Amino acid sequence: MTPSPLDDLDARTGELLALIEGLTTLDELRDAEATLVGRRSPLATMQRSLGSLEPDERRDAGATLQEARRVVEAALAHRRAELVAADRTQRLEADRLDLGDVVVSDVAWRPAPGHPGLVATTQRALEDVFVAMGFTVADGPEVESDWYNFEALNIPPGHPARGLWDTFYVDLGEPETVVLRTHTSPTQIHLMEEAVANHALPIHSVMPGRCYRRDTPDARHLATFHQVEGIVVDRGITFADLAGVIETFTRAYFGADIDARLRPGYFPFTEPSAEFEITCTLCRGEGCRTCSHTGWIELGGCGMIDPAVFDAVGIDAQEWSGFAFGFGIDRCAQMRHEVPDMRALIENDTRFLRQFS
Ligand code: PHE
Repeated sequence: MTPSPLDDLDARTGELLALIEGLTTLDELRDAEATLVGRRSPLATMQRSLGSLEPDERRDAGATLQEARRVVEAALAHRRAELVAADRTQRLEADRLDLGDVVVSDVAWRPAPGHPGLVATTQRALEDVFVAMGFTVADGPEVESDWYNFEALNIPPGHPARGLWDTFYVDLGEPETVVLRTHTSPTQIHLMEEAVANHALPIHSVMPGRCYRRDTPDARHLATFHQVEGIVVDRGITFADLAGVIETFTRAYFGADIDARLRPGYFPFTEPSAEFEITCTLCRGEGCRTCSHTGWIELGGCGMIDPAVFDAVGIDAQEWSGFAFGFGIDRCAQMRHEVPDMRALIENDTRFLRQFS
């Protein structure tokens, strides 16, 4: 019996499968591919030797060989898939960033907690001084009608004094013309009206809040700023009471080395009226750029409530008298903390703001 070309088939196939199993990298696989399943592989050589067989034998042997090639190719494909997966896992491992024990929240940027601004803390400090002196704290609207901002304060339409507080008017049609309040004095009117309606006189109140003017900002002015208004309506109140309150407040808030002075002034809603000034804290009265070389800084105005205002709200000026004052909170912050230019308050430079946390 002549030896069949396929006598070695099982042994050859077994060798090929063992070789495939022994491949450890994709590179090895690629290098071995031609000798395992290519034209120079043992099975391809066997295929070529089938030509010497009878047609019937050739067909059967061909089918057997074909099956062996399929098994080897399948084993190779399977090994390739395994090696591709292993290679991928290895690359992912290598690429992984080893953060060790680092806790991410320790290195992450953390937003700093905010804190109240200088104007807000100044307002609270001023309220505290007045509360200690027996005043209550009240609030009023920032959007006012012409009546509250001007007319009830004895400033009729067309009166030249309007120029002191000139601003933008929003005409909502009759009867209301509306303004962003130019001072906190309209809150005096609200308080007196309420007290009259509720038979709740006397009044001893301060009213802090934001005001708006058509001003160009400079070292001492902002177009949006804050005032604290004060009002006392009682029996037998005199200008000496007003001067005493101003004096006590100045010493309590700015310290004993800062003087207050009242200079005759004009306001339509007080009579007599005065301007309230303190020693400039930046130069201690020597004169500097911030105080325009006068040694004094104007904080606000004050005076005895004009009988025309009492008339407007229905208070009997024969029975009641009183005084009012209003001064800048921003200006107080500036003087208390020696800020040369008030615009620093609104520039949001954190190097400035942080100093008042
Ligand atoms: N409202 C005045 C101003 O803004 C200040 C003031 C208040 C004057 C109360 C007198 C009495 O200039």
